[in-house]
Amino acid sequence: MNKKNAIIALATTLFLLSIIHACKKEENPPTTTPYTFPEIPNFRAIPTDISNPITIEGVALGKKLFFDPILSLDSSISCSSCHQPQFSFADNKIKSEGVHQVLGKRNAMALVNLAWQKDRFFWDGRTTTLHEQITFPIQDPLEMQNTLDEVENRLQKNPTYVDLFWKAFGTKNISIDLVGKAIEQYEKTLISYNSKFDKFSRGELMLTDSELRGLEIFKTEKGDCFHCHSSTAPEVFISPDRTFANNGMDTITNVIDFADFGLGDFTNNLSDYGRFKIPTLRNLAFTAPYMHDGRFATLDEVIDFYNQGPKGSPTLEPIMREKAEKRLETLGHWGLNLSAQDKADLKAFLLTLSDSSFVQ
Ligand code: HEC
Ligand code: HEC
Repeated sequence: MNKKNAIIALATTLFLLSIIHACKKEENPPTTTPYTFPEIPNFRAIPTDISNPITIEGVALGKKLFFDPILSLDSSISCSSCHQPQFSFADNKIKSEGVHQVLGKRNAMALVNLAWQKDRFFWDGRTTTLHEQITFPIQDPLEMQNTLDEVENRLQKNPTYVDLFWKAFGTKNISIDLVGKAIEQYEKTLISYNSKFDKFSRGELMLTDSELRGLEIFKTEKGDCFHCHSSTAPEVFISPDRTFANNGMDTITNVIDFADFGLGDFTNNLSDYGRFKIPTLRNLAFTAPYMHDGRFATLDEVIDFYNQGPKGSPTLEPIMREKAEKRLETLGHWGLNLSAQDKADLKAFLLTLSDSSFVQ
């Protein structure tokens, strides 16, 4: 080999090496940008989850998946069909409709400030993390009617998704676990913190006299709401001491007569029959109808129900029974004895927890 050929060979080798290097570089996982949450002085810090750090890329992917009907059997419904932004991510129906308009079993839950709800999801608490939660609606015969394999296959065949998973997670192998993690990231960014009550908590405005009286009823024995829904967890208004309760909606002598076993459905424990996840009270102005079965169309009906007092059943929350028994001694009945004005005040307070900026 003469000198000239040697130089050409060397140059060619270097050129090829640089191409290989460039290709390799493209295969390095792209860098992600941490998602910045707003500063919210009246909230506790957002619990961090090191197993699924929230990034701008992950949230963007999760949002796309949440609104994409590709997850359902016939590509007819998405998560957002039953969790619509304008209803604080509930659906304004008594019971949700799945693929082929099949009617679901329960009322869709509002999705708000889920980042602070770390332990149990669903009315019956059957899942402990948001990324596992997604496997239920996808496979539910009353919801998306799909299979996890089919979802993985469809997404894997879609170059846009392959690219988005690459950007968010540095892999082109799409798995249900990552689908769940992306949706979880998006769900944790659904933060509502500009209700009238939030502004009041931050000293930005004053509540009306009626709203203040309602707050007093809410957090004292007079209304007895605070044992289960509490302002000490202002992000969710669920008492830190309780996750599930039977709030006495039905008179039942034998627990197997509950129309829905609730937590008992999941634990098979008779003492959990008729107990349900205590729901958030945020954004009630947008989340009617109320309760796991959507039985109450208005907040007035909800307040009338509590005012009449709980109905008896073996799993009625002990604190509720205890307070009701006390009222029986003093008032002669289980009811709260709220006046028309008290009920109007309580409703006015509950409505201060609604945040119209969140539903826009
Ligand atoms: C057909 C309507 C429907 C679809 C589609 C649907 N959901 Fe739901 N969702 C519901 C209903 C109804 C509940 C309450 C079910 C229960 O408790 O058994 C619920 C509950 C939830 C909860 C629990 C909230 C809490 O506070 O415990 C989360 C989170 C959720 N859905 C997210 C999703 C995601 C993510 C998707 C898409 C992968 C999805 N849902 C698809 C109707 C639906
Ligand atoms: C013993 C616990 C407990 C007490 C006390 C209690 N609640 Fe509830 N609340 C619950 C549970 C559990 C549910 C859901 C029940 C179901 O769907 O079966 C609920 C549901 C609600 C809902 C419906 C929310 C929705 O999105 O469907 C509202 C509104 C509400 N409660 C307001 C109040 C008010 C106001 C008071 C006081 C007058 C009160 N609660 C007292 C446990 C309680």
